Amino acid sequence: MDFSITDSQRAVQERAREFAQKRVAPLAREMDERGAMPLELVREMGARGLLGGPLPRAYGGEEWDAVALALCYEELGCVDSSVRGFMTVHTSLVSQCILKWGTDAQREKYLPRLARGEWIGCYCLTEPNAGSDAASMESVARADGDAFVLNGEKIWITNGGIADVGIVFASVDRALKHKGICAFLVDLKAPGIRREKMPGKELGHRASDHARIFFENCRVPQTALLGERGQGFRVAMSALDHGRLGVAAGALGVAQACLDASVAFARTRRQFGQRIGDFEMIQSALANMAADVDAARLLVYHAAWLHARGERVTRATSVAKLFATEAAVRAASEAVLLHGGRGYSNEYPVERYYRDIKGLQIYEGASHIQRIVIARELLGKDDAS
Ligand code: CAA
Repeated sequence: MDFSITDSQRAVQERAREFAQKRVAPLAREMDERGAMPLELVREMGARGLLGGPLPRAYGGEEWDAVALALCYEELGCVDSSVRGFMTVHTSLVSQCILKWGTDAQREKYLPRLARGEWIGCYCLTEPNAGSDAASMESVARADGDAFVLNGEKIWITNGGIADVGIVFASVDRALKHKGICAFLVDLKAPGIRREKMPGKELGHRASDHARIFFENCRVPQTALLGERGQGFRVAMSALDHGRLGVAAGALGVAQACLDASVAFARTRRQFGQRIGDFEMIQSALANMAADVDAARLLVYHAAWLHARGERVTRATSVAKLFATEAAVRAASEAVLLHGGRGYSNEYPVERYYRDIKGLQIYEGASHIQRIVIARELLGKDDAS
């Protein structure tokens, strides 16, 4: 078994780390307070080759394998989940999905622009009455001559307010359940589309753009269909196989950042005449956190390695997302506690990690859904039903 990473994977890791530490980290607190990330960061990620990394060179990418991509998400996750979340949606849910399911014309039209960060992508699956039960979506697509007419409402769409293109899921026949669902590549500036910011203030990911998108008799050409008619649910699920790996790697980054911050604090903060790290209770918390980080890293890299080998990844990806996000929830909670009063204010980043990590445990399939996916793979189909 070889646990080392290759020179090219390390080069991606170093490039992502430099961008994360030098460009994102200094802005993270301000972005969180302001509730937005500057669009220059998106263009810069494009110019540095991060957004198109896993795409073929013909479409402006660098052909990174899934391990390199996971390393990039981990580095971004260490400093800011909003920026990492932007990229996971844009690159993994959108670009990689177009690469897998798109026609040559669709790939040529969208991928180079998405790779450069000239266009921003979003993934429009969730609806008010269809969150975890994605197949029960109520958005519809009616065939009309050489077009489809979309009607419906999507919510919690990351990048939704700033995106140029969305992968939009809607049903051509709701009686067919998931077999009626289609995926469409939609120009979000087209007539019949209304976008609003999600109501309320989010717990975390405050620099992310979360939108509510209404489709009101929005006409899209037949050529907007991504994948075959009725294949949309498979398109959605296969995109989530990529996206969930990105979330798992981002969560690993959050857990690592919590551990690093806690170790640094335990070394310098003195109480009762000694470093707090010299107390056994603090050592126990740090040791548990370190074991969680090591285990999460092995699961995330293993899932990425399976992706890179082109093997079945659904179960391994769900295991990685489930474990890494829950490990990071534990790490963030301990990190805030260990920092005491300082951890309770945004003077230290652990406060933001604690708020952000709850999102990773929920989006792209909450922990309950990852458990369902894993259990179904264990049990298989009931032959008697
Ligand atoms: N790849 C390809 N196909 C897949 C698949 C995968 N990973 N998983 C399932 N499918 C296929 C199945 O093979 C099946 O196909 P057939 O009918 O041909 O046999 C079909 O999809 C239906 O599968 P299920 O019977 O398992 O479907 P289900 O309705 O029971 O749902 C579920 C399964 C796993 C619960 C799914 O609904 C799910 O993942 N729910 C969570 C939704 C989710 O993650 N939402 C996140 C929103 S996106 C987001 O958060 C992004 C953002 O902007 C932040």
